[in-house]
Amino acid sequence: MHAVEGIGFRLHAGETLALVGESASGKSTTGKALCNLVPFTGDVRINGTHIGGLSPARMKPVRRDIQMIFKDPYASLDPRMRVGELVGEPLKIHGLATGSELTDRVEYLFRRVGLPPEAASRYPHEISGGQRQRA
Ligand SMILES: Nc1ncnc2c1ncn2[C@@H]1O[C@H](COP(=O)(O)OP(=O)(O)OP(=O)(O)O)[C@@H](O)[C@H]1O
Ligand SMILES: [Mg+2]
Repeated sequence: MHAVEGIGFRLHAGETLALVGESASGKSTTGKALCNLVPFTGDVRINGTHIGGLSPARMKPVRRDIQMIFKDPYASLDPRMRVGELVGEPLKIHGLATGSELTDRVEYLFRRVGLPPEAASRYPHEISGGQRQRA
C-alpha cells in the first residue's frame, strides 16, 4: 500500500507550510514519514540528517527538532500524568533540564502560552479544552 507518492518540498527555519488536499490524499502520512513513524522510500532529511531507516536511538536526537501536535489534545496527553509533568517530560527525556531548572522552564513555558501556574499540578481532564491544547 502506497499511502502517498511523489511529494517533495523543502522547509527552511522560520517558515510555515500548510499541506492542503482532499481526504485520503496522504497529508497525515506525509507528517508521519517526517517523524519516521511510517516506513517510506525516498529521501527525508531533518536539518540535514537522513532519517530513513534510523534506529530509535539514532532518531532520538532528531526528535528534539521535530514533533507531531495532534488536533485532539486528549489523544496527546497521558491522563495519568499532571500537566506540569507532561510539559516537562520531553526536557527530561532529552537531558535538557532537571530539578529546579526543569521546574523553571516549565513555569516559563506556561507563562508564554498563558496557562496559570496552578494548572501544572492538575490532570488533563481538570483543565479546559483550550488550556489542554496550549499544554
Ligand atoms: N495504516 C494504514 N494502513 C493502510 N492504509 C492506510 C493507513 N493509513 C492511511 N492509509 C491510507 O493511505 C491514504 C492516505 O491516508 P492519510 O491518512 O495520509 O490521508 P489524509 O490526507 O491525512 O486524509 P484526511 O484529510 O482524511 O485526514 C488513504 O488512502 C488511507 O486510506
Ligand atoms: Mg489526516
